[in-house]
Amino acid sequence: MSPFSGMHRQPGPRKGREPASTGRRRAAAWLAGTAAVAPLFLRWAAGGHALATELQETLALPKPRPAGSLSLEGAVHARRSVREFAAGPVALAEAAQLLWAAQGVTDGSRWRRRAAPSAGALYPLELALLAGRVRDLAPGVYRYLPRDHALRPGLAGDLRDALAIAALGQSWIAKAGCVLVLAAVYGRCTGKYGKRGEQYVHMEVGHAAQNVYLQARALGLGTTMVGAFRDRQVQRLLGFEADEVPLGLLPVGRLR
Ligand SMILES: Cc1cc2nc3c(=O)[nH]c(=O)nc-3n(C[C@H](O)[C@H](O)[C@H](O)COP(=O)(O)O)c2cc1C
Repeated sequence: MSPFSGMHRQPGPRKGREPASTGRRRAAAWLAGTAAVAPLFLRWAAGGHALATELQETLALPKPRPAGSLSLEGAVHARRSVREFAAGPVALAEAAQLLWAAQGVTDGSRWRRRAAPSAGALYPLELALLAGRVRDLAPGVYRYLPRDHALRPGLAGDLRDALAIAALGQSWIAKAGCVLVLAAVYGRCTGKYGKRGEQYVHMEVGHAAQNVYLQARALGLGTTMVGAFRDRQVQRLLGFEADEVPLGLLPVGRLR
């Protein structure tokens, strides 16, 4: 059973008064949940992060490498969701390679097509990097700019604990070196395809996330697709616009 099993379950409709024992069980579960996120919350609150600080310059990323030492078959075979990481930061070149695998431009033509397929090449996904322990990169939130293979800095500070809280207290997320966050602007796709465009967006997130899994494995890194989180909380934390809906978090760290 995965560590987040049952997190998506919503409490069912109340039918009259519940027995006292059910109430006590609910209270105990609530307390246990609160106890799990309390250390994360306290550490985050004590950090005194400059949440409102906007860094300025765009950062050019190390060029992506189009080849590696692990075969595609090897990466597919070895891929696993990883939630425990070895000590040691993620290198900036590794983070850059992961961002490229997710949404990088791989096409020299004027279409600027990307590493992951996109219905109608409309590219509804936005990609952010939440850096915690990335060598040569200050902790903070950065937006990936596919056309320039660069980062645009946003909020400064180590927000991993806050993200773990927003992800329903999945505390292992706070131990990742960085987190790739995939968000969607649905309108880019539904403008052409109507309601069906929503399905296309969801398919596309899967494509991008799988690329990250395989690229991570090829680099000796591990990741897990995280879908259990509070949308609005993640949206606010990362400084996303109202129409940028977060759909998946990919915490990344070194394989043990
Ligand atoms: C859409 C989606 C959402 C997921 N959300 C979470 C999550 O919130 N937390 C988590 O620990 N794992 C999450 N997972 C990872 C699954 O638990 C994992 O893929 C599954 O247990 C199979 O293991 P494997 O990926 O190692 O093959 C998610 C996977 C998918 C595809």
